[in-house]
Amino acid sequence: MNTRVLTGITTSGTPHLGNYAGAIRPAVQASAQPGVDAFFFMADYHALIKCDDPARVARSRLEIAATWLAVGLDHERVTFYRQSDIPEIPELTWLLNCVTAKGLMNRAHAYKASVDQNTEKGLEPDDGVTMGLFSYPVLMAADIVMFNANKVPVGRDQIQHLEMARDIAQRFNHLYGRDYFTLPEVVIEEDVATLPGLDGRKMSKSYNNTIPLFEGGASALRAAVMRIVTDSRAPGEPKDAENSHLYTIYRAFATHEQAAALRKQLEEGMGWGEAKQALYDHLENLLAPMREKYFDLMANPGRIEDILQAGAAKARKLATPFMQELRQAVGLRNLEAGSGAKAAQPKKEKGKGARFVSFRDEDGGFRFRLLAADGEELLLSQRFADPKEAGAAMRRLQAEPADVALQADGQGYAAMIDGVAVATAPTGAQDESGALLARARAALSSLSQE
Ligand code: TRP
Repeated sequence: MNTRVLTGITTSGTPHLGNYAGAIRPAVQASAQPGVDAFFFMADYHALIKCDDPARVARSRLEIAATWLAVGLDHERVTFYRQSDIPEIPELTWLLNCVTAKGLMNRAHAYKASVDQNTEKGLEPDDGVTMGLFSYPVLMAADIVMFNANKVPVGRDQIQHLEMARDIAQRFNHLYGRDYFTLPEVVIEEDVATLPGLDGRKMSKSYNNTIPLFEGGASALRAAVMRIVTDSRAPGEPKDAENSHLYTIYRAFATHEQAAALRKQLEEGMGWGEAKQALYDHLENLLAPMREKYFDLMANPGRIEDILQAGAAKARKLATPFMQELRQAVGLRNLEAGSGAKAAQPKKEKGKGARFVSFRDEDGGFRFRLLAADGEELLLSQRFADPKEAGAAMRRLQAEPADVALQADGQGYAAMIDGVAVATAPTGAQDESGALLARARAALSSLSQE
């Protein structure tokens, strides 16, 4: 069986050079690997969460589709579609909503960030928070499990969403008694370039420091390159290439030899103006042929529409029968088919169901959480450098009597092994009454009886 690799691109902006180096180029390359079935889609339902400007949503869908096709995505081979062309996705989202703990969503970083900002400004915690934003991870889980993706390449900011997708899928499987869904694995491409922007911070629309990929043509590309911030060393003075983002950008698009050559020139005193011209020439050379295809496609939206419709048909060949099966699973059945005596009997949910979930944090460390049966977070571990250490700590905690392993401390409580706190109450949890500690102990002892 081929590995299914799936990823979504939120259609809320115009692709820039950083998107190209960080997401588009590696995805297109990965999709050409043998043994891979790639699913790439435009997350346009997700775009509605952030953007209520219809013209912008429409424009971004077009630009992003044209970009992916122009840079060489093989749409015959890859399943390339728009999320909103697959009605099974919102349908599945609802089924998943019905098994997702609200407590799990309360912990989502994006939601918590909004609450924190509101609190800082003295507003109501949920001011401006829509249900779309709140349940964003459920829609994303549906995107992924609809096609039983094995691997999901994303940026670090999406790691938590993948954990949640696994959690939700696992819960559905458990409730309905069968492994309907494959548990997806997150893929963080370690060696993919995070491109610096004009000012050296990560290239991002929100920092207004981007270099356009195609829009604006060669002149916009040139104008942006000329605005790259450099230090004030004059022509003739040796430059510190490694620490200049001009060189970092160049390197992301050059061979080793080309990069080494520019580096040497900079170290030998090449002026910044000349270096900018060299970067521009290099980028223009690379991008011009793709840009031509891009504008050609942009001028023929009907061609893009046809490609996307074909992609949707291909995706729905999988989604439609699978959704039928899922409707059966939850009891949304044809009445004539009987009350389901022959269908899979859902397992009765056990009274317990507390669990440890392990994950990698944003810095690549290994951690785990203890969750209650309803998904509430009861413990968050320290960071471990080695996943085996994290596993050993979980086993040790399960082996200890819960009232020894979990001890109240100043404001909350901690899980102790040999006098060292390996995990604590979740960040921000207030547990003055000790109720959360009692829940945590009950969860831990239910696990030790398994
Ligand atoms: N949330 C992702 C992002 O902003 C986009 C996305 C939506 C996605 N659904 C997905 C990515 C499913 C991977 C899989 O980057």
